[in-house]
Amino acid sequence: MADTTAVTKAVIPAAGLGTRFLPAAKAIPKEMLPVIDTPTIQLVVEEAAAAGLRDVLMVTRRGKSAIEDHFDTASELEDALTAKGDDDGLARIREPGNLAKMHYVRQDAPKGLGHAVLCAAEHVGNEPFAVLLGDDFIDRRDPLLRRMIDVRQRYGGSIVALMEVEPDQVSAYGCAAIKPTGEDDVVVVTDLVEKPDPGEAPSNWIVIGRYVCDPAVFGVLRETPPGRGGEIQLTDALLTLATADLGVAGDGGGVHGVLFRGRRYDTGNKLDYLRTVIQFACERADLAGEFVPWLRGYLDTL
Ligand code: G1P
Repeated sequence: MADTTAVTKAVIPAAGLGTRFLPAAKAIPKEMLPVIDTPTIQLVVEEAAAAGLRDVLMVTRRGKSAIEDHFDTASELEDALTAKGDDDGLARIREPGNLAKMHYVRQDAPKGLGHAVLCAAEHVGNEPFAVLLGDDFIDRRDPLLRRMIDVRQRYGGSIVALMEVEPDQVSAYGCAAIKPTGEDDVVVVTDLVEKPDPGEAPSNWIVIGRYVCDPAVFGVLRETPPGRGGEIQLTDALLTLATADLGVAGDGGGVHGVLFRGRRYDTGNKLDYLRTVIQFACERADLAGEFVPWLRGYLDTL
């Protein structure tokens, strides 16, 4: 059922412990690890802003205040760069603060992604909202989130982004069983399994870290018991919305998937993070000229 309520808010869970990046993530939030000179969390906020989401709520925890500082004004740095007449530097440090109106809420304990999203309930209120996970980001040339918001306006309910992967990768993700609609890149989600055991996945379509949720998800999350890993899973709450007979039409139920075939950069584990950094270096106008020949030469020495 169509729901033309505008989507204006993004929720970015950033309360994870970052254990895959220790010791780097011991004293620095893993979200601040840079792709060359830009923290990954900034790239995620840029993606939200590019989709028109100018109200961003970050779900953090103790030890993550560097994220708040990054999106805040840095007056000492601004004074120093102004004194030097460094306009480019000035623009670069102001950019994160100009992307969106930032808000923060803390998750008191690592109780899972579903619990982190529930921490956003008060800020979000009774509106549809986007969720962007910080472990990956989408190339700005492939506007996935915009497409998901469009799809939600036509179908209502909640929307997940899906990508097809090799069967041996499925158990690292949430996985969806899907049914076609009349549209090439839109499907109905009929089942969702968080990190299925090998052989038990309903398909090779995995949930990547972009969602547009109906606010009905909050009520469901409050009733969702801990699932995979003893954590409250967003996947489980979305399964309830996808399958439960919630009674009246327009009650926020129903889940659709947008099939994404574009460029996604994973920064959630070491190898993919490294691939992302190298790829960006090879594509950046200010670096590629020197970096690419050096990389070629280096590879020849191996
Ligand atoms: C989370 C979700 C999972 C999703 C994944 C995408 O898992 O629970 O369903 O597929 O993000 O990155 P996590 O990577 O936080 O364990």
